[in-house]
Amino acid sequence: EDGKSSADRPLVPGSQKRLPQCIIVGARKCGTRALLEFLSLHPQIKVADMEMHFFDDDENYTKGLAWYQNRMPYALPGQITIEKTPRYFIAEKVPQRIQAMNSSVKLIVILRNPSTRVVSDYAQVYANKIAKNKTVSRFEDVVIDPRTNKVNTQYKAVRISLYYYHLSRWYLYFRRHQIHIVDGDKLITHPLEEIREVEKFLGLPHGISEDRLYFNETRGFYCMKFQQGEHCLGATKGRKHPDIDPDVLQKLHVEQSLNQSERMADFTDIAKFEP
Ligand code: A3P
Repeated sequence: EDGKSSADRPLVPGSQKRLPQCIIVGARKCGTRALLEFLSLHPQIKVADMEMHFFDDDENYTKGLAWYQNRMPYALPGQITIEKTPRYFIAEKVPQRIQAMNSSVKLIVILRNPSTRVVSDYAQVYANKIAKNKTVSRFEDVVIDPRTNKVNTQYKAVRISLYYYHLSRWYLYFRRHQIHIVDGDKLITHPLEEIREVEKFLGLPHGISEDRLYFNETRGFYCMKFQQGEHCLGATKGRKHPDIDPDVLQKLHVEQSLNQSERMADFTDIAKFEP
């Protein structure tokens, strides 16, 4: 894989595969795909379509930065290369490894209401299990530990939503201004406003006109317009969420507050993600 095979030459002369100057590091089920696809509409942004899993997968990481770089899309000088891998957010070794690649890299974390994220995560795991004919459990049964009748913080979907716990690790390695937090709930309702904030963070001029995004009534989400037609995210994005026992949701809410509300306020700009 030297990147020089005839099938893999730059389509545009002068374009190059570069290491990403910006990485969307998570969190899973917060709108990472929508964010990446919307950003790809910007002429000065080039996105890697596939999740790279370079920094979180020891086997990939051992292949080295040249391997990683070779998997990046071709970009012109002046274009910013972005990749997204939601698992980076929770994988312990990742912040340090990214810092070792480029200590001034820009990082984007997209978060949404932590309880909604747990439900979304559950809905995805549920759908995948059904597809594989595996047995599934009710939300209430996986989120609540039957022995204590309390929230099971060992359940992976609950743990990922303890944003403070993960974020504090990132702030050990990166300065405050290097990490931009996108509001995933707002990305659903007002995508362009969130995109404008990202443009500012990346030091780019407005590059996505309003008419590129439109609300698709059938999908219930924003979709994109192209000259060739329209494009919505795939069917695995925007799943119907199950109805959840309100008592269980309330418990989840309280648990998340206990775990992070005061501490999230340390990062004043992200205090809005307190449950
Ligand atoms: P749900 O499927 O639970 O609704 P990720 O890409 O990180 O897996 O996030 C998936 C979530 O992105 C979806 O969760 C959905 O709510 C959200 N989302 C945000 N904007 C969207 C859009 N324009 N189209 C579809 N899903 C969108």
